[in-house]
Amino acid sequence: MAKPYIILHMLTSIEGDITGDFLSTKKGESLCEEYYKINRNYKADAYLCGRVTMEGSFTKGIAPDLTPFKDSLDDFCDYVAKRHPYYAVAIDPHGRLNWESDVLHDEDVGYDNAHIIEVITENVPKGYTNFLKSKGVSYIVCGKDSIDVEMLNNKLVAFFGINKLMLEGGGLTDALFLDAGVIDELSLVVCPFVGGEKGKPLFTNRTAPLTDYKLFKAIILPQDGIWLNYKKNKK
Ligand SMILES: NC(=O)c1ccc[n+]([C@@H]2O[C@H](COP(=O)([O-])OP(=O)(O)OC[C@H]3O[C@@H](n4cnc5c(N)ncnc54)[C@H](OP(=O)(O)O)[C@@H]3O)[C@@H](O)[C@H]2O)c1
Repeated sequence: MAKPYIILHMLTSIEGDITGDFLSTKKGESLCEEYYKINRNYKADAYLCGRVTMEGSFTKGIAPDLTPFKDSLDDFCDYVAKRHPYYAVAIDPHGRLNWESDVLHDEDVGYDNAHIIEVITENVPKGYTNFLKSKGVSYIVCGKDSIDVEMLNNKLVAFFGINKLMLEGGGLTDALFLDAGVIDELSLVVCPFVGGEKGKPLFTNRTAPLTDYKLFKAIILPQDGIWLNYKKNKK
């Protein structure tokens, strides 16, 4: 089965938390800029985030208005609205994200102007697939109720030509990919903090067996940060 080359790119504390008060410190904010810079340097075809992260960064938790579509029949065939140079892939198994258009805009050029691909299951609210079509958002159906990662990877390559993918959280989504054994590379920007507000972990509820990664680069960053870059050991 085809799959993109997948890079897990995350900003963490020394403890491996991905949320918490360390992110709003001067060092945390400065290292967040380093994180964005590294993201841009990868020049990937797409970035992928879970529903909670997409809501926090873009759709702000407002539910989509499905009333115009309530009497329409949902279409569970994959829908490729268009091919685009860059994509934002949203893991949204239960159809909760409220997109205003088919392209994401962000002040950082590393995330801006990305065509949205929704990854849904057949368990979405009535009318949701027609809502996505009305916005010109592409969608792929990857399971009945939970996401089948192998199917997802295959469709990203086959339908959109995505060969290099940045996996960018949150912890539930990172664990989904870790447990499927498909993360090729780790790119961790580590902020110099422990303690404080307890945050979410890099991988939430993971079940993956011990996996060996080879250290490829360790680069000291400004503000006492470090970039750790590991690649999966080839068996
Ligand atoms: N430090 C960093 O680099 C970084 C990067 C990204 C995000 N974050 C932070 O991470 C936090 C969000 O993380 P999170 O783990 O709560 O959420 P998340 O991974 O962003 O999204 C989780 C949601 O995605 C769907 N999902 C993903 N994997 C699933 C699975 N295995 N089974 C079922 N559903 C799955 C579910 O949607 P439904 O609930 O709709 O079914 C689930 O609630 C935010 O606070 C964000 O700011 C930090």
